[in-house]
Amino acid sequence: MSKILIKNSKGLVQCGENMPKYKKGPEMQDLPVLENAYLAIEDGIIVDYGTMEEWGGITDWRGIEVIDAEGKYVLPAFCDSHTHLVFARSREEEFVDRIKGLTYEEIALKGGGILNSARRLQEKSEDELFEDAMKRLKLVNSYGTGAIEIKSGYGLTVDAELKMLRVIKRIKEAVNFPVKATFLGAHAFPKEFKENHRGYIDQIINEMLPKIAEEKLADYIDVFCERNYFSLEEMEEILLAGKKYGLVPKVHVNQFSVMGGVAKAIELGALSVDHLEEIADEDIEALKNSECMPTLLPSCSHFISIPFANARKMMEAGLPVALASDFNPGTTPTGNLQVVMSLACVKMKMTPEEAINALTLNAAYAMGIAETHGSISLGKSGNVVLTKEIPSLAYLPYAFGDNHIEQTIGF
Ligand code: NIG
Ligand code: FE
Repeated sequence: MSKILIKNSKGLVQCGENMPKYKKGPEMQDLPVLENAYLAIEDGIIVDYGTMEEWGGITDWRGIEVIDAEGKYVLPAFCDSHTHLVFARSREEEFVDRIKGLTYEEIALKGGGILNSARRLQEKSEDELFEDAMKRLKLVNSYGTGAIEIKSGYGLTVDAELKMLRVIKRIKEAVNFPVKATFLGAHAFPKEFKENHRGYIDQIINEMLPKIAEEKLADYIDVFCERNYFSLEEMEEILLAGKKYGLVPKVHVNQFSVMGGVAKAIELGALSVDHLEEIADEDIEALKNSECMPTLLPSCSHFISIPFANARKMMEAGLPVALASDFNPGTTPTGNLQVVMSLACVKMKMTPEEAINALTLNAAYAMGIAETHGSISLGKSGNVVLTKEIPSLAYLPYAFGDNHIEQTIGF
């Protein structure tokens, strides 16, 4: 039996019982912190916590690892509910093109963007992709990520999409924290299908999905619903086909334009709608009457110079909000959720409490693991992060650019 005792912590953050499945509107300001506290984890499960005054000491020291957390906070590990962690190569040449004045959409229309990544990925072996992704995963884990969703979508052929999803499956088997796989064959139309959307959609539905289901390679299905990518009707057809195999929708919508994708995705049972840099009142209304998590990606806005999502408007409308990295070579070449937290505070005017809720409990909900992750509660996973010695929780987003996480404890 593995036993860990963390004692003398400055505060256990997001700690308590009977947590809601997510926090919304004004509840996002509530962040319970148990000060001067201990936390006991047995075989990866939280079995006890309390203040140091309440601590009864240890009677049986056999096999116990004790961590002294004087001056340090303990948080539930951050959940990154939206990443494209598996990719072949970085794309800094597009970054330089943007500095010189081209937009993300212009670069994509020239054959860059997602199609650029797909060409590179098709050439790489499964082993190489796996090794590279594991290096990235270890890095983001050291920044506090203790659960991650990973999408396909840089394959765009039957073989390459399956290759990506098999890499994600290997990652799931290799690490000791939750990894969710999302099938994003509908990320862009390959060049040869530019004028033949029907042909590619048929490939997704008749060739990719049955194999993915047979090998159990995905948990979720995603579509990039956007002008020059997939239309509303195309998204609907693909999501419905995925649902027949039990894949729950989690979609890219409203990155550059409002097309009605939010309401349509909700109608189709989406667990989350992601991006929302552009938003209309109808989208907010649709979200209000749903259990769908709006998921915002401020490091994407920062990196490709597009508007930041209006988090305050959403929370003022009573909605929940989750934050994620969108880690990918085109629009967010970092998976550091501390950077995301800082951008959410500075650029979207979220308070540190709101941002931490958005990266823990709400993000856990957005990847379907809120029952076991996202808070420090009895019976939940002991995947927690220990900060370095910091003066306050607000210091996490305030002192941006440094890694404030000392250790990510995973099971
Ligand atoms: O979420 N917008 C669609 N997909 C990614 C970017 C993909 C890329 O440029 O490689 C995103 O930002
Ligand atoms: Fe994305």
